[in-house]
Amino acid sequence: MEVMKRTSTCGELRGIDEGKTVILNGWVHRKRDHGGISFINLRDRYGITQIVVDPEGMDTDEWERLSLVTQELRNEFCIAAEGRVRRRPGGMVNPDMPTGEIEVLARKILILNRSETLPFQIDDESEAKEELRLKYRYLDLRSASMQNKIRLRSETAFAVREYMTAQGFYEIETPTFIRSTPEGARDYLVPSRLYPGQFYALPQSPQLYKQLLMVSGFDRYFQIARCYRDEDARGDRQPEFTQIDIEMSFTGREDILVMTEGLMGHIFKKVLNRDLPACFTRLSYAQAMELYGSDKPDLRFSLPMQDFSPYVEAGSFQAFKDALAQGEAEKAEAITKGVRLAGGAVKALVVPGQAVYSRKQIEELEAQAKVYKAKGLAWMKVNGTEEAPVLEGGVSKFFTANAAEIIRGLGAKPGDLILIAADARRKTANTALGAVRSKLGRDLGLILPKDGEGPRFEFVWIVDFPLFEWNEEENRWEAAHHLFSWPQEQFHATLEQDPGSVLGDLYDLVLNGCELASGSIRIHDSELQKRIFSIAGINAEDAEKKFGFLTNAFKFGAPPHGGIAPGLDRLVMIMAGETSIKEVIAFPKNSFAQSLMDESPSEATAKQLEELHLIIKKEK
Ligand code: AMO
Ligand code: AMP
Repeated sequence: MEVMKRTSTCGELRGIDEGKTVILNGWVHRKRDHGGISFINLRDRYGITQIVVDPEGMDTDEWERLSLVTQELRNEFCIAAEGRVRRRPGGMVNPDMPTGEIEVLARKILILNRSETLPFQIDDESEAKEELRLKYRYLDLRSASMQNKIRLRSETAFAVREYMTAQGFYEIETPTFIRSTPEGARDYLVPSRLYPGQFYALPQSPQLYKQLLMVSGFDRYFQIARCYRDEDARGDRQPEFTQIDIEMSFTGREDILVMTEGLMGHIFKKVLNRDLPACFTRLSYAQAMELYGSDKPDLRFSLPMQDFSPYVEAGSFQAFKDALAQGEAEKAEAITKGVRLAGGAVKALVVPGQAVYSRKQIEELEAQAKVYKAKGLAWMKVNGTEEAPVLEGGVSKFFTANAAEIIRGLGAKPGDLILIAADARRKTANTALGAVRSKLGRDLGLILPKDGEGPRFEFVWIVDFPLFEWNEEENRWEAAHHLFSWPQEQFHATLEQDPGSVLGDLYDLVLNGCELASGSIRIHDSELQKRIFSIAGINAEDAEKKFGFLTNAFKFGAPPHGGIAPGLDRLVMIMAGETSIKEVIAFPKNSFAQSLMDESPSEATAKQLEELHLIIKKEK
């Protein structure tokens, strides 16, 4: 086969290259014919260059060959084009294209491969349905925007390796066929051919292995690790995804937070040329819940929630009074079972300037609150003047006695909308109103960049998470993160008395309202580990069976250690301004955990099943 190997890419030629003879390789992005002259936009990974096919100055034989080939060209033909670079005439310069100053006057075009008609246009504004895009992902990936996102991902991974290696971390691979690690989600299992009835699990994360590497003395480990979780896919979740997994010995929480801030700073500088603050804001879990109703608050806008309970008694709205009274009653009842509840709460949001909200808009907010189990969403508007503000509409008639006090206390101004959620469960009131806050952030455009500024990146650490959560269905305590997180020292003596109040050395890094990373200081003491297992209802025998290889390792001088794992997909998603991690994964699964391209999962052959000692039970 004749080879016309490229001398330049489709993104690099400029005015100063005028007069050079070049060969370009790429795909026909568009072809236009104008009165005997053809214009071909030739595309590759690097950009687009205009090729001109013009008979002027060509001898007849040469022209005949060239025009014959040109006529045959269709979109997405893969071609080589040879010609001379010339400046475009003044009026034809295209300032929107990096190569817009020039064009290549073709002398020869060779078709490297033809293309059938495409199922959709390779275009950034492609309207193609996601299903079609995923089925023909290899074509979807040809678009400049997908190419750009995959480049961003590659550069991010490189920046991670650059920073971590410079900080003295080793990149160590851990197995992907393992014993199942208990981390909340369901495992993907791989049947063993050699051992009938036995299975490997694909790791939900390298958690136990990275802790074992600390026991081995590696001190500073990282890995760009593939993780597998059999859970329902969502915008920011995939059944297989990638973590920047990190573990360090002889460190405390502070070292890990500082190291992670440095890592993020390096990535954003290298990849986006953006400067991040040297330290990120920190909130305790309790503060985040009280102020924003979420352990992953979006701090691109403020809009904090406030306590409305001081105004309930002097008012006459029964739903609020009931919520607080019932909360107290449930709290007293729970104490008799040894469980501490927070009681009820009445929380308010003052939305500046939004007294103009219509009843319908408020109903939409209420619907959002109800998704999070709120009983309703009460509202009032502040009207009147700066000097004499008044409460009107909604539940204001129940607060005539203390309206002035409420307005002053909440710092509300005429024109503001006040939204209130009350519940016997503090967490319900907080999360429901927090969801309303998030919706307002989107609806009112509060998360958009200010004029002339690039996209905003608001990082916040959430620290001091509770170690245990009460599982109401199963009536037992369970680990809020995982079972290996270190309870803060001040709780060690009294762990068993009041598990609900125990705070762990746990931390999450949140970016723009998305949980980017989770981590903790780990338990390195087998006695303490046993107590944690026991509180979580795992008896010694079970613990030995499931985690014996870890707890036994800890008997041999395990160093104090801790770590963190930022999700690479989520990080790149946010850096790329996307809202789904599918956009930054070359070959993602759809929302039903299927790959539409290779049609997996698929059935196994009878022979494969036989070898694996499996029989498929027919569903009714
Ligand atoms: P965790 O389970 O919180 O912690 O996961 C850490 C980070 O991984 C990302 N992530 C996901 N990304 C895409 N799809 C998913 N299904 C998915 N699940 C998690 C998130 C999340 O913050 N071993 C611990 C970490 C540690 O303690 O060091 C762990 O896996 O960005
Ligand atoms: P009702 O008295 O039930 O008609 O409710 C009057 C208003 O109060 C409605 O807007 C309800 O959404 C709201 N409301 C009722 N219960 C609650 C609650 N627990 N928290 C907040 N608002 C509530």
